[in-house]
Amino acid sequence: MRNFINLKDISAKNLRKILNDAKKRKNRRKKLSTIDVDKDHPLKGKLLIQMYEKPSSRTRLSFHISINQLGASSITVKANELHLGKGGESLADTAKILSTYGDGFLLRTDSDKKIDDFSKNLKIPIINLLSPSSHPCQVLSDIFTIEEIKKKPISKLNICWIGDCNNVLNSLIAASVKFNFNLNIGCPKNYSPPKFVMNWVKKNKRRVNVFNDPKKAAKNADVVFSDKVFSLNDKGNKSKKIEDFKNYRIDTKLMRVTRADSIFLHCLPRGNEVSEEVFLGERSRVWQQALNRVHVQKSILLYSFGKLR
Ligand code: CP
Ligand code: NVA
Repeated sequence: MRNFINLKDISAKNLRKILNDAKKRKNRRKKLSTIDVDKDHPLKGKLLIQMYEKPSSRTRLSFHISINQLGASSITVKANELHLGKGGESLADTAKILSTYGDGFLLRTDSDKKIDDFSKNLKIPIINLLSPSSHPCQVLSDIFTIEEIKKKPISKLNICWIGDCNNVLNSLIAASVKFNFNLNIGCPKNYSPPKFVMNWVKKNKRRVNVFNDPKKAAKNADVVFSDKVFSLNDKGNKSKKIEDFKNYRIDTKLMRVTRADSIFLHCLPRGNEVSEEVFLGERSRVWQQALNRVHVQKSILLYSFGKLR
């Protein structure tokens, strides 16, 4: 049993194994429909419990499909429907109950501490569906999408992030260390990645490049990523933050400094950080990106159950 909480805590070898497995499984499903179960139904008989403390469209639906395709069952609960959410039951007792009924727990939360506390109290694996500090399923799946489109290892590509230094970027930074790729970040001065993240990069003898000029960050990029300026866990002044990012919008003009065959990715939902032309344009691969979450998350689940081949 293995948790999947943060990319930085998983070995590069295991992350690569997850991607290889996802590729094989995706290829084998070409003739199957969304609800068909994989022929080997590797998680038959298992119950996965998903809990959301924050809104979700893609993660909730794609995990439901991933779980079904593995032959397992899922139940989705909202935190405020449980006694835990209303403060009427401790986390330790809730974890005991989850471990009694379920085989795996998938959690989207606004508290990194809660994931940590659950991981200490559960007897079943926990998977992080997005926390204030990371979004590991999203980013691992995005690496898969990039390699699928570019048909080469991500270590041979220039990856660029324009936007807020948030949970998705933290996971992308962790991925840049694990998969050894070049990462440029374009953000305003006061929005650089947190010190603990940069220190971790340094400790691992890698570097990411931070620019306060979006054009410099995007120059020669093979892939440009962005995300909402104001995340679900943001509590500050929304209009001020959006104003601070006004020169970091991804538009056709900015995409011109990237490589001729560059692509645009966005985890969604989107805000005003990308123009309609780029988001719906020929370089955008956002729908393929969303779909691939189904495939990669299956292999993440198999990793957690020690069933990766
Ligand atoms: N990208 C992503 O995690 O989307 P949801 O918030 O809709 O799950
Ligand atoms: N950074 C965003 C990602 C949403 C999928 C957020 O945390 O709201």
